[in-house]
Amino acid sequence: MNKDNLKILVLGSGGREHTLAKICSQSPLVREVLVAPGNGGTQQEFRTLQLCVEENETIVKSALEEAIDLVVVGPEVPLCNGVVDALNNAGILAYGPDAQCARLEGSKAFTKDFLARHHIPTAEYGNFSEIGPAVEYLQTCALPVVVKASGLAAGKGVIICKSREEAEQEVQDMLSGNSFGSSGSEVVIEEFLEGEEASLHLICSGEDYVALPMSQDHKKVGEGDTGPNTGGMGAYAPTSVVSESMLSEYEDSIVRPTLAGLKAEGMDFRGTLYVGLMLTTKGPKVLEFNVRFGDPETQVILPLVDQDLVPVLIASARGEPLPKKLQIKQEFAMVVVLASEGYPGSYPKGEKIVPPPVLPPSSLLIHAGTSTAQNGDIVSSGGRVLGAVGTGTSLREAKNAAYVLCERVEFASKYYRKDIGHREFSRP
Ligand code: AMP
Ligand code: GLY
Repeated sequence: MNKDNLKILVLGSGGREHTLAKICSQSPLVREVLVAPGNGGTQQEFRTLQLCVEENETIVKSALEEAIDLVVVGPEVPLCNGVVDALNNAGILAYGPDAQCARLEGSKAFTKDFLARHHIPTAEYGNFSEIGPAVEYLQTCALPVVVKASGLAAGKGVIICKSREEAEQEVQDMLSGNSFGSSGSEVVIEEFLEGEEASLHLICSGEDYVALPMSQDHKKVGEGDTGPNTGGMGAYAPTSVVSESMLSEYEDSIVRPTLAGLKAEGMDFRGTLYVGLMLTTKGPKVLEFNVRFGDPETQVILPLVDQDLVPVLIASARGEPLPKKLQIKQEFAMVVVLASEGYPGSYPKGEKIVPPPVLPPSSLLIHAGTSTAQNGDIVSSGGRVLGAVGTGTSLREAKNAAYVLCERVEFASKYYRKDIGHREFSRP
């Protein structure tokens, strides 16, 4: 590796990857950032490799041909498919966990058993692959009850059921393969938890880790947190819902036992561990682990980092020690997702996007579901189209900057929540 002349490949095509590519390209160590397959925004700024993130062989081949020094893997699917193992086997450094560790996201049933084995707080649960025992278990559960497809389901495999009949139907649909294909061949039935959610991101290197600012996502499509779940409609950081002292308690009760438990079971976790927390009256509980940066959380936590992240990503990928703390700006950031009306159901595509000719102050436009049309126009191609990011010395300032940008971007079916950050603003 040429230490200050690096070529980095970012794998993925969402807002997270656009942000990761921007952050990597700001490093003085980096000569070039490539993105595969990217989106309409990354294509304007970075060289694109037309790769499918699910094809390990072609990814390895291209990375070798391009003499890539570091592959930064964005999404969970390639991680669960073992892209990091494949790249490492070919001698290419890659940021992200191997396939064994990626089971923390790829199998909710595996994760629940792991949490139980290591006495890490989480909701009461049962794992089932047959309908009979699942229905029997449901009779013992309080309502509402949560039914989850164990495998990957792009954030849509969690159903909160108000009645046992509804829960039985969901279990049946999942186990028969009707609702989530093979991702539903095992289900987790789980106690419903109440509280506020918060996202904790850790960059890990075995048992070593360094925390990023705490953030809060908004998963529901509608204002006031109503309507169906989405991949996330907006986020802000840092959130005051978890104070420094609370975070240090969570490190003792959740983070260290998790990384120690993985090590004891022969797993060396490298990459991002995203701990999805529910802050209940009985303390924090792990809702889920993700093994990659959150989307849209990345868009607000990475711009707050006040140091070069590339050496940290490299240390993690190599399993080397990490800095104890990252330098973080004394600022706030908010991202508001500009979606296509209809998302997470069906929505129009191919609409021309017109960004403002000049970005308003303290704002950043991140592309997600966009692509480049034949005539060169940038058009919508996904449900979550863009992320309007604002920063400022207060959350209010960050919010104003983000929302000014929301108003100035034009596309026909533009839809966004107007209340991102509402919990933080209503705290006493
Ligand atoms: P997961 O993918 O497991 O994090 O679930 C997605 C979302 O569903 C979470 O962010 C929560 O909003 C909700 N959720 C998941 N599990 C529970 C639970 N046990 N109780 C209440 N809400 C839940
Ligand atoms: N925003 C939630 C996630 O990335 O899973």
